[in-house]
Amino acid sequence: MQTIPTLSEMQTQAQALRTQGRRIALVPTMGALHDGHLSLVRLAATRADVVVVSLFVNPTQFGPSEDFSRYPRELESDLAKCAAAGAHIMFTPGVEEIYPKGYSTYITEETVAKPLEGVSRPAHFRGVTTIVAKLFNLVRPHLAVFGQKDAQQVAVLKKMTADLHLGVELVIGPTLRDADGLAMSSRNRYLTATQRADALAIPRALRRAQEMVAAGERRVDRLVAEATHLLAQHRRVRVIYAAIVDRDTMEAVREVRPGQTLLAIAAWVDEVRLIDNEIL
Ligand code: PAF
Repeated sequence: MQTIPTLSEMQTQAQALRTQGRRIALVPTMGALHDGHLSLVRLAATRADVVVVSLFVNPTQFGPSEDFSRYPRELESDLAKCAAAGAHIMFTPGVEEIYPKGYSTYITEETVAKPLEGVSRPAHFRGVTTIVAKLFNLVRPHLAVFGQKDAQQVAVLKKMTADLHLGVELVIGPTLRDADGLAMSSRNRYLTATQRADALAIPRALRRAQEMVAAGERRVDRLVAEATHLLAQHRRVRVIYAAIVDRDTMEAVREVRPGQTLLAIAAWVDEVRLIDNEIL
């Protein structure tokens, strides 16, 4: 496995791979990798000749009061994990090269990015779309792999890719859960055992909604009321949103359309912000 820390080397390598007719997959990450990320690397390896994993903690997608400076950075162990999962190239650009002094160009998706995460994290998706578009330009992948755990990010990036004719196929990997049901996330490490026990209300609420839909319930108000009720029983859990939305547009719906709608939940568990979702 090769590590490429500079933009020019990455561009040269991408050009060479394209000339050789090799199919390139990109798995963009912010590091602190867990099995959920590694499943995306393995998925990428089944779809391409060369798997590039980018490791870049992107400052522009963090709000001023968010955890950018304390976001975990574990380069050495991330490299070892990616090598074992089948990555060929680790792209580890520096922040000074990605956003040099005077940097002033951003990409905004203006519809899908607005609700849910967009309400409490207004600049978040502008940072995500900007860095992902830059990574697409630098790595020139044929396909890029993202996790369904970040359902709104997936929808925003699909929209950006289509709107800007970027010509990159987006492949979406399923959410991986720990044995207790909690969706894998780099932020789970901040949870104490008691906080984690309360956080399990989130996957339980999602499962309950799926069961209700399987039993024939289609009314969003009833499904959301039940999910909110389950979450409210845990004093450390403060719901930011629990919403049933169209999986492509993120617009609120009144009725579940099986396969096309999802229940998205964001909640604080004390000071740890978690998101999760399931397709209903
Ligand atoms: O999902 C993430 O880890 C980030 O939002 C991404 C896609 C790597 C962009 O920084």
